[in-house]
Amino acid sequence: MSAAPASGSIVAEGLGKTYGGTVRAVDGISFTVQPGEVFGFLGPNGAGKTTTVSMLTAGLAATDGKAFVDGLDVGANPLGVKRRIGIVFQEMTSDGDLTGRENVELAANLYGVPRADVASRSQQLMERMQIGEAADRLAKTYSGGMRRRLELAVGIVHSPSILFLDEPTLGLDPQGRAGFWKFVEELRREHRMTVFVTTHYLEEADGMCERVAIIDHGKIVAVGTPSELKDRLGGDIVTVRPVQPSASLEGLLRGLPGVSSVTGQDGGFRLKCPSGEKLVPALVEACVRAGVGLASVAVKRPSLDEVFLEFTGREFREDEGMSATDRAVVLSRVRDQLGRGR
Ligand SMILES: Nc1ncnc2c1ncn2[C@@H]1O[C@H](COP(=O)(O)OP(=O)(O)OP(=O)(O)O)[C@@H](O)[C@H]1O
Ligand SMILES: [Mg+2]
Repeated sequence: MSAAPASGSIVAEGLGKTYGGTVRAVDGISFTVQPGEVFGFLGPNGAGKTTTVSMLTAGLAATDGKAFVDGLDVGANPLGVKRRIGIVFQEMTSDGDLTGRENVELAANLYGVPRADVASRSQQLMERMQIGEAADRLAKTYSGGMRRRLELAVGIVHSPSILFLDEPTLGLDPQGRAGFWKFVEELRREHRMTVFVTTHYLEEADGMCERVAIIDHGKIVAVGTPSELKDRLGGDIVTVRPVQPSASLEGLLRGLPGVSSVTGQDGGFRLKCPSGEKLVPALVEACVRAGVGLASVAVKRPSLDEVFLEFTGREFREDEGMSATDRAVVLSRVRDQLGRGR
């Protein structure tokens, strides 16, 4: 490390975690998040996102490497780090059997908010999160979106300079997700908070994050602004599916003007070219001439899904089954539901 890490920043240097001596969950990752930045940490189930968040927030000791948060060495000063950060975990951490207000006030007291300020700060935050009217209801009666906003209020009641969010919007509908992000964005703007967020929703990350890192199998495969990463794909993506397998199609596609790469995908091909719209007429004409019947041709502007595919060779699917964190959410909901019937 040449210079001391800036306050408000997050720095990982070769950070790694091996569980039980065998599971290499995070494989020596390095990155820097600048003060005031919204940094997205994207990856599929089991990629190592939660493990990384846990190491950065002093909840889990790293096996190797170092992390600095708000200028502090996390390994050497875990308590100092915990005091300066806010965390919203994927699993519900608020207590369903307490009211919203009790949850927020409890967190305020735990985090050492001055006694005289606890009630007013909690009230203000709940109003801000639009749960003021429900402040004196048990948290387990809240809707999913309200509960997430309560979690956010709990996580920031002590005005942290850095906020960690581990899949904070998982399970919310698009409207709930948009609402949650609106609050995060406002808080960030007003307090110049640094935000480190993991998410499965790539589109959401595209809109909300200034820079993103893509993590797969514990390794960072790409870091940059969403538009930088998309630009690295070199233009549009065209997918071509023949009516039936054709031996000559791949060669024909490779010979089209402007096509920079052709890869096989699900019985068809995926091409990259500067302008998909310009390529399609030439492509169709060449196929007609060669007698290759086409079932479909589609042009896609690159999205972060395409970026993910490019850097990992795999599709990023949101619906490939329940992840560990999904399960934790469902379990906590079931627990609350059961509690409600008591
Ligand atoms: N306590 C643990 N003991 C052993 N292995 C673990 C433990 N926690 C996580 N793992 C493994 O480490 C890897 C990374 O898990 P992690 O929870 O960090 O991934 P994630 O990206 O957060 O996934 P998800 O999208 O499911 O939340 C996975 O292979 C997981 O099975
Ligand atoms: Mg996780």
